[in-house]
Amino acid sequence: MKRLAVFASGSGSNFEAIAEGCRSGAVDGSVVLCVCDKPGAYVVERAKRYGVECLVFNPKEFGSKREFERMIADKLDSLEVDLVCLAGYMRIIGDELLERYGGRIINIHPALLPAFPGAHGIRDAFEYGVKVYGVTIHYVDATLDGGKIISQVAVPYEGSDIEELEAMIHRAEHKLYVETINKI
Ligand code: GAR
Repeated sequence: MKRLAVFASGSGSNFEAIAEGCRSGAVDGSVVLCVCDKPGAYVVERAKRYGVECLVFNPKEFGSKREFERMIADKLDSLEVDLVCLAGYMRIIGDELLERYGGRIINIHPALLPAFPGAHGIRDAFEYGVKVYGVTIHYVDATLDGGKIISQVAVPYEGSDIEELEAMIHRAEHKLYVETINKI
């Protein structure tokens, strides 16, 4: 049974998909920590509903990325976390976490990498006019949405409603994250 930490900065729908997967038995694991760098983000409410401990911090209150990552990595150590799942954690992972948890950190991205990395993968692909969208889960390295790809799923869409598209991609994300955690 894997001990999971989920990092998020926003709504946390992927956090919830993973936490629900663990609760229902669809994921062979348990979410032991939620890490959030945005006090007030909705993911914190979701974590409370699932009874998951939250480490919420404001990066501006630390002298450097290394300092706040040391605090995070110490917490991961104390909870004996096996796998870190980034789920809309909108920060590049720095040296401290890579040195201590490298190879055990994965990320989900709402596009078929290496196309459309960055914070607006869905919108960028939509504006480009692609006909096949998708989702990627990959190991994390020091680059933006870079690192070895673990799994991908295509989401064909030829419509013109970005909200409909976003909903389809999020559904695909939730399913792929659960499957991929089991596969690792
Ligand atoms: C997800 O679509 C995730 O793929 C994306 O942020 C969203 C978070 O949604 N991540 C990235 O764009 C990383 N570059 P959620 O908070 O509802 O899970």
